[in-house]
Parts: sequence; structure tokens; C-alpha cells
Amino acid sequence: MDVDSLLLIGGSSFATYLIYKRFEPAGILPASILLLVLPVPIALYLRSNFASIFTALSTVYALYWSLILTFTISYRLSPFHPLASIPGPIPCKISKFWLSGKVTTGKLHLYIQSLHQQYGPVVRIGPNELSFCEADAITPILGSRGLPKGPCLIFWVTWRKDIYYIRSMIDEDRFISFSVDLGYLREGKDQSGLFKVLHQAVMDVAIISHFPWSYDFLRLIPGSEKPLKFLQNLGADMVHQRIRSGSTRRDFFHFLIDEDGLESVKPTLGNVTSDGLLAIIAGSDTAATALSHTFYFLLQNPRCYELLQKEVDENFPRGEDPMDFSKQAEMPYLNACINESLRLFPPVISGLQRRVELGTGGKMINTTYVPEGTQVSVHQYSLHRDPRYFSPLPDVYWPDRWLTQETYTLPTGDPIPANQIILDKNSFIPFSIGPQNCAGKAVALLEMRAVLCALLQRFELKRAEGVRLEDWVDGIEDCYVTRCSGSLTVSLQPR
Ligand code: HEM
Repeated sequence: MDVDSLLLIGGSSFATYLIYKRFEPAGILPASILLLVLPVPIALYLRSNFASIFTALSTVYALYWSLILTFTISYRLSPFHPLASIPGPIPCKISKFWLSGKVTTGKLHLYIQSLHQQYGPVVRIGPNELSFCEADAITPILGSRGLPKGPCLIFWVTWRKDIYYIRSMIDEDRFISFSVDLGYLREGKDQSGLFKVLHQAVMDVAIISHFPWSYDFLRLIPGSEKPLKFLQNLGADMVHQRIRSGSTRRDFFHFLIDEDGLESVKPTLGNVTSDGLLAIIAGSDTAATALSHTFYFLLQNPRCYELLQKEVDENFPRGEDPMDFSKQAEMPYLNACINESLRLFPPVISGLQRRVELGTGGKMINTTYVPEGTQVSVHQYSLHRDPRYFSPLPDVYWPDRWLTQETYTLPTGDPIPANQIILDKNSFIPFSIGPQNCAGKAVALLEMRAVLCALLQRFELKRAEGVRLEDWVDGIEDCYVTRCSGSLTVSLQPR
């Protein structure tokens, strides 16, 4: 091949690379034109340099694609990249493929924590993505003047922008999520198959979320959308069931469907289904996981179990109704136990992705200048275990750190004065903060307190015969929300 031919292929692949870099065109049409169609006229033009049209096409495609790849990688590793000064591992700087590979191991949270330990509080975890583990980065990223959600979170559900008023309404004590009976308790099993599919779907979503653009392509593969379609249909069924049966309570759907008529434009059924689906995903597994973690820690730490049991017995002696939500909210040790498990294993275990939007000129996040077009996240798992914010014993379940006392007793039995304890409540963000925080925080806390009080009042919980509690922690997987593949079988004995 002569120099002119090489220049033609090199020039056109460089132009394609520049188009992708500058305009980030998403979707099948631009990709088909730029990556599949464009090399064809070039191969036809250079046909006379090759033995056959087949060799012309294969050589031009191979050169065209590998040059685009080379330009992309060279730029991402070069000192000209806007994030060049931020430390991080080379595979992360090259492509998000590396992180999505880590998602498949289920241990992404441990990987990112190890990166923070190695590189410091700000790490480049993708070509255009930073992870933060520092308290002063929380408000600029998540706070009221923070950033909008990143592509990782918005590609598969649409969440009505005007729905935020719901948050203020659902702080009511008697808020119920859906008023739709899924039959779990009655049947004693997951009869609709929701949880099985939910677990499949969250893993799919967790992997794809690192390449939101790939969703348009992957959905062309027959059967690939099955778990998501199942969830969408289930969401639609629940909405229809709820609309048909109505409810005497102001539940989540009461606000989604706008039964009070507060929204200027009535939400469409599609909107309601999508929002309901997000609430199912955000609300079902998270609260259940957080409760399971709390039981795991209580069984692992008999002293904590004893102290909590004592507090429950004092507040709700046998025979008394344990469903006094305001009393539960005032029980210090109960709330300390819940906080401590949310600290060590926040159900949304990794980052809450946000994006510095194009055209904004970038943003200062604490002392780091973050250029526009960059995705950023606060890594909850690392932050919650950082000794700068939670000390001593940041990796140990020690609910006492949440109590107000003059002298504390460490799990080892040694006393420690209050002035040696670091508890930075601003760095405790299991429900996130700011305008896009968890819409179900009040419900989740209410649910957890109620279940713990009701169970401990009536039953003695023990690890079931032959169960290794450590399997529970080994089975914790980071799929944006936590997935638990281990089992935590307990025996309940009436007290
Ligand atoms: C312990 C249990 C729970 C935890 C730790 C939790 C945590 C979170 C977190 C971290 C977010 C992401 C917020 C962000 O991106 O800044 C979120 C979003 C959300 N959560 Fe929860 N959640 C829990 C339970 C619930 C429950 C029970 C519900 C519903 C009844 C719920 C409804 C939602 C909704 C609708 C969103 C999306 C908010 C939005 O995008 O604007 N969550 N949750």
C-alpha cells in the first residue's frame, strides 16, 4: 500500500475519532455510518492497490478501526487529557471495560476502596470519570448546588423531574409504599419471580451502566431485554392493579398517579410505570439488604445483640404493641445498630454518579478542578470506612460510636474517652444527600426499626445449625445496589 492510501485511511479514522471525541454521538445510526459504512467507499477507492475487493475491505477495516483505537488510547494516556494530572491505574484510564470487568466479580466496591488507599482521595476510575473519597467533596457533588445524575443512572429509567415534591410528603409516619399485595408473606415465597429477575436485571444494569451507549446495540440481541421487560411489565401490572383497587392510604402511588391533582400536567401511565419501577428497584432490595446486614452484625456480636434486646424489652415489654413508630425513632441503641450497619455496608455500596455537564465550564470539587463532560462519584463504601471520619476501628461493627457518652467501651472491653472518638455525621451518606437523595429514606428507616423491634420482642434469633456467618459477607456483591448471594439462615425461637 502506498503512502497516499495510508494517509487517506489515517486521515478518515482521525476525523471519525475527532467526531466521537467532540460530539459523543450515541445510537446505532451514527455508529453504523462512521464505523461500518465509511470504510466501504475508501476500500472501493483503493481497490486497485489490492488483489481483491475482499482484501481491500478487510485491510481498510482493520487499519481504520485499529487507528481509531490507537488515537483514543494515546489521547487518554497522554498529558494533554484534561484528567492527566489525576492518579489512577492505566487500564482505568484507557477504558471503562476494566471497571465493568470488576463488576462481574461482584467486588467492585473493594477494588475502588483499594484504589483510594493506593492513589488517595481522588482517583481516575475511567477515561472521563473520577471517584472521590473526601468529606469536602460531598456537597459540591451531591448537595443542593451539586451536579445532575450521570449517564450511569439515567439510561434505563426515566424519573419525572417534577416529582421531587413527593419527598416532602412521604415523611409521614404512615406512608406505605405501594398498597399492592405481591403475596410474599402469604405464600412464603417469591411467587411473581420478582426477586430472581430483579437480581438478574441489576447485574445486567450494573455492567451496562459503564457503557450506557451500548444499550442500544445490546437490545438488538434476541432475549437480552427479557429481565428488564419482565420488570417493566410487572411495574405496569402493579400500576393497573393499584388504579383498579384504589387505596384508602396516601401511598407512593397516590403521589405518582397524582391523586391529589397537584401537578399541572397529569402524568402519563408510562411515566407512572417507569417511576413505580424505579421505586420497586430502589426500595425493595435496599431495605431488605440493610436489615439482613443488621441481623448479620447482631449475630456476629452477641454484646450488641444483648444491649439491643435490653432496649427493646424496656420499651416494648411482652404483650405491648411494638409498632409505636415515634417511640422506635427515639431508641438510641436501635438507631445506632441500624446506622452502624448502613455505615459498614451501605446498600448502594459504590458511588452515586453525577456529571459535570458540557457547556458549564467545569466545576471545582473541593480542591480539584473537574472539567466539563467528566463523571464524578462519591464512593460510599470507602468514605464510610475512612479513619479520618470514623475512628477508632473504622472497619469494626461498634454501634456505641453513635451514642452520646463521656466514656465509651471498645469491643475489646477497654475504655476510651469521648474526645478520642471521631464520628463525622456529614460523611455518613447511605441515603445520599441533596435534591436527588433517596425518596424512601423515612420509609426505609421506619421499616427497619419496626421489623427489628417486632422480631426481638417476640423471638430469640440464632444462627441456624451449620451456617457460617462469614458466607454472608463473602456473598456481598456490588451491582450498583448490593446483591447478596450468600445465605443468612437463622432460627427463630419464641421467647
Ligand atoms: C435502607 C434502605 C435504602 C437505602 C440505603 C437507599 C438508598 C438510596 C440511594 C443511595 C439512592 C440514590 C440517591 C442519589 O443518587 O443521590 C436512592 C434512590 C432512591 N430511593 Fe432509596 N434507599 C433505601 C430504601 C428505599 C425505599 C424503601 C424506597 C421507596 C419506598 C426508596 C426509593 C428510592 C427512590 C425512588 C430513589 C430514586 C430517587 C431519584 O432518583 O430521585 N429507597 N436510595
